[in-house]
Amino acid sequence: MKILVTGATNGMGKGVSKILAGSDNQSHEIILLCRSEKSGLETIKEIENATTNKKLSLLLCDLAKLSDVRNAVNEIQNKHKSLDSVFINAGLGYAAGRVETEDGMDSHFQVNYLSQFMLTLNLLNLLENSENGGRIIFNVTRGGNIIWDDMQMKNGWGYEKGIHQAMAAKRMFLIKLHNLYKMRDSSRVTFIGFEISKTVWSNQINIIPLYMKTIATLIKFLGGFISIDECGSIMAPLFTESLEESLKRSGKFITWKKNKFSEIPEDNFVLDKGNQDRLWKASLALCNDLKTEQIAEALCN
Ligand SMILES: NC(=O)c1ccc[n+]([C@@H]2O[C@H](COP(=O)([O-])OP(=O)(O)OC[C@H]3O[C@@H](n4cnc5c(N)ncnc54)[C@H](OP(=O)(O)O)[C@@H]3O)[C@@H](O)[C@H]2O)c1
Repeated sequence: MKILVTGATNGMGKGVSKILAGSDNQSHEIILLCRSEKSGLETIKEIENATTNKKLSLLLCDLAKLSDVRNAVNEIQNKHKSLDSVFINAGLGYAAGRVETEDGMDSHFQVNYLSQFMLTLNLLNLLENSENGGRIIFNVTRGGNIIWDDMQMKNGWGYEKGIHQAMAAKRMFLIKLHNLYKMRDSSRVTFIGFEISKTVWSNQINIIPLYMKTIATLIKFLGGFISIDECGSIMAPLFTESLEESLKRSGKFITWKKNKFSEIPEDNFVLDKGNQDRLWKASLALCNDLKTEQIAEALCN
């Protein structure tokens, strides 16, 4: 299978990339979308050494720049005829203050959600071409809402607020996509929201302030974290399972508990079609990209 992972240089994205690269006789081709060529190449080397899989490649893209997303889309469309799976994962975690992107957006909103909204819409044709049935796994957590009157959080910014808003937005987006594809005669692309039930020991530990690091280290000592490899092992089947299995999960919000995938009840706010449509329209306006609008229009008609 050919699998694209966003945010593959660290944390959950790296764990998933590594486990998938090493599974099924190293048969999977992994495309690592990352913002730094240096850490991307280092990650490839590390995974190659751990797995002997040599089918790893880089797709450079800083998700804080919509121009980068456009270039990455052009590059992948020129190089590949199909994609089997995508992991929508990259995200900013802790931050000491609000950072505005060159597109004038809050960086948590743009990196964690909007750029990946645009990326996803522009990859759908490649997923539709998958012989195995395309699937997109969204890395999400429960809770959150859309701050309609201040989406860019110019007033009352908080990094946790930004993360949660992006999580709610991703869940609304995947349900909307699932419903649009469900209306087609033979839907062969699935959209799944996955929440990891235990905290993953990720690169966040190197970013958070010292007091948080001390608490996290204590919690780790008490067994409160899982490694990125454990996270990758839990998630890997979602990328490679049969289309029949994947179709059963499409449009759902799931987690892994007691050694099986189980559904998490979704919030009414997220399930509300009016809210989904409102977010869809607002996101398209913020992308301000003709091709993305044309894709969205074709999907809705
Ligand atoms: N850790 C957990 O327990 C946990 C639980 C539930 C959900 N999550 C979510 O999972 C996602 C990943 O978290 P993590 O803990 O694995 O974090 P992490 O270790 O900090 O990894 C984040 C990944 O996103 C990439 N990234 C950040 N900004 C980017 C940008 N502008 N352009 C492209 N890539 C960018 C990072 O690249 P660099 O290496 O260049 O920084 C890195 O590869 C986040 O959305 C987080 O909210 C995490």
